[in-house]
Amino acid sequence: MKNILLIGNSGGVGSALNAAWHMRGDKVIGLSRQSDGFDITNEDTVERMLRTIKARFDIVFIATGGLETENSRPEKSLLDLGKGAFQEQFLLNAIGPALVLKHVPKLLHNDRATIIATLSARVGSIGDNRLGGWYSYRASKAALNQIIHSAAIELSRTHPKSICIALHPGTVRTSLTQKYVGKHPAVSPAEAANNLLKVMDSLRPEDTGLFFDWAGRRIDW
Ligand SMILES: NC(=O)c1ccc[n+]([C@@H]2O[C@H](COP(=O)([O-])OP(=O)(O)OC[C@H]3O[C@@H](n4cnc5c(N)ncnc54)[C@H](OP(=O)(O)O)[C@@H]3O)[C@@H](O)[C@H]2O)c1
Repeated sequence: MKNILLIGNSGGVGSALNAAWHMRGDKVIGLSRQSDGFDITNEDTVERMLRTIKARFDIVFIATGGLETENSRPEKSLLDLGKGAFQEQFLLNAIGPALVLKHVPKLLHNDRATIIATLSARVGSIGDNRLGGWYSYRASKAALNQIIHSAAIELSRTHPKSICIALHPGTVRTSLTQKYVGKHPAVSPAEAANNLLKVMDSLRPEDTGLFFDWAGRRIDW
């Protein structure tokens, strides 16, 4: 049985991961904005809520994020760019997970294999960007990937058995994609969760700091 801390267990992918781990008999502690008031963009909240947890975890999974925020919609053109949209996207998709990474290492075992995983997105890959657009979301996920890579290097010193990775879940039918998925092939949250669990099952120590898709294939930075 694994002990798992799941941040964002209220989302489409997050709730499916929660269900999949429960089916396996793992023990999940979930934290969400809607049930627990866990706002990942507020460091006081992140620090305070993580401090009250006494358990130690084998997996910490960050499943929060957004494609739209109060003032941002995926941009089609440079003319659509706005400072507020960039600030909100970076706060939610990059700074929020970074705040969790800052306060979560003390909750990890440091004498056995642990995983710290965060949901990134393939569109955050610079090497894979062939369509352009979606500036602020893409840039926020690229920043998240850089943060994950740096955190993996630092954690390998204090937690030598840790594997810290960014994951792309595929295109999943959730509230995040509802307006955008169109005819693009998409999977159910349950299928995405099972795929992600398989990827995590197959991780090796040398995979730390890398970016994988739902099938365990490496994604170009
Ligand atoms: N769906 C896809 O096809 C797809 C593809 C690539 C990457 N992703 C990534 O996967 C992640 C999850 O996506 P999803 O499809 O599951 O989206 P979703 O169903 O819209 O869920 C979003 C989650 O983020 C949480 N959240 C948003 N703002 C928050 C905040 N300020 N503080 C704490 N939690 C916050 C929501 O919490 P509350 O509901 O409690 O407010 C919810 O749990 C995102 O990072 C997304 O970029 C998804």
